[in-house]
Amino acid sequence: MEPFNLDDDTLLAAHDPSDMLGAIYGLPEQMEEAVRLMEHTGAKFDASLVQTIVVTGLGGSAVGGDMLRTYAGDKCPVPILVNRSYTLPSYVGKDTLVIAVSYSGNTEETLSAYADAKARGAQIVAVTSGGILKKQAWEDGHAVITVPGGLQPRAAAGYLFIPQLMLLQQAGLLPEGHAEIEETVRLLREMRKLLAPASPTEQNLAKQTALRLYGKIPLIHGAVGLTEVIAYRWKTQINENAQTPAFAHCYPELNHNEIVGFDVPQELIEKLEIITLTCSRNHPRVQKRIEITAGEVLAAASCGQTELAALGESDLAQMFSLLYLGDYASAYLAALYGLDPTPVEKIEYLKRRLAD
Ligand code: F6R
Repeated sequence: MEPFNLDDDTLLAAHDPSDMLGAIYGLPEQMEEAVRLMEHTGAKFDASLVQTIVVTGLGGSAVGGDMLRTYAGDKCPVPILVNRSYTLPSYVGKDTLVIAVSYSGNTEETLSAYADAKARGAQIVAVTSGGILKKQAWEDGHAVITVPGGLQPRAAAGYLFIPQLMLLQQAGLLPEGHAEIEETVRLLREMRKLLAPASPTEQNLAKQTALRLYGKIPLIHGAVGLTEVIAYRWKTQINENAQTPAFAHCYPELNHNEIVGFDVPQELIEKLEIITLTCSRNHPRVQKRIEITAGEVLAAASCGQTELAALGESDLAQMFSLLYLGDYASAYLAALYGLDPTPVEKIEYLKRRLAD
C-alpha cells in the first residue's frame, strides 16, 4: 500500500481541538490551563503524614503517574509508585497518599483500587474529568481535582500530569517548579511551529520519523531516568494512534538481554525500526552504552536505527519535548496508513463486554 501524503491539504486543515492532531497541538495551552486550575485550589492532604505515594490508574491516565515517578525520583523524599491493578500493594495504609487518576472516571480497575484505598484509610486525591470516580470521591469527602473533559485520555497528558506535579509541589514534597513548567510550555510552542501539520515534511522531524516507521515494527529504546517512561509512551501512542504493534525497552537493562536478539530471523529483523531517545540527563555510562550499542553492537543488524535527542534544559522540558515529538509522529504514522488516530474501538469494545 502506498503511504498517504503527509503534506496533503486535508492534514494541513485546521483541526478540531478534540481530535488527536488538534489535541496534540493544544498541549501547551492544556498545561497552562492545568496550572491555573491548580493555583485556585487549596491544600488537598496532610503531607506530614505521607510516607509513600501511590498513583493508581491505567493507560493514558497512568502515564502522568509514570512521569511523576520518574521526574520526582531524585527530588521527592518519599517513594512514588504507579499501580495499574485492581488492588493496592499491602503497604498502603493511613500514611499513604493515593492519587487515583481516571480521565473518564469510569475505569473499573481504578475504581476498585480507589475502594481499596478508602478501605485502608489512605489519604486520597482523585484526578478526573467526571464519572463515577468524581461522584464517589466527592461523596466520601476526598479531594477531587476536576479537569476539563472531551478528549481521549491519552490526549490529556497536560491535564493529568500537571495537577499531580503541582499537588506535590504545593505540599512541599517536591521543590517549587514554576520556571520548569514555563520553560516546557515555551519549548512546546516553539516545537509545534515545526511539528504541526502545516509544517512540510522536509522541515518536520515528526513527519520524517513517521516515514521511517511506516511499514516497520517500531522498537523504542529509552534509558533509566527521564526517557524510559517516554519510550513506553511512544510505544502506547503508536499502538493507539497508529494501530500498529510497537515495543519499548530501556538502557542499561537491554544491554543485558535484548541486544543478543537481533540475529535471526533476518526477514523479521529487517522489519524493525529502532528509535533511541536520548537526553542530557543520562548517566554518562548509560550514554556510553548507547553509543557502543547503536554504533557497534547493532550496526550490523538488518534493522533501521534512528537517534532522537531531547530538547530543553530542565528535566520537565526534556521529557515533554520527546513526548511531544512521539505524539506527533504517532499521529502522522496513522495518517500514512490512512487511519484516524482518535478512536480506540478495541478498548471501548473490551470495556463494554466487561460491563455486560
Ligand atoms: C484512551 C486511552 C486509554 C485509557 C484507559 C483508561 O485514549 O488512552 O489508555 O486511558 O483505557 O481510561 P481512563 O483514562 O478514562 O481511566
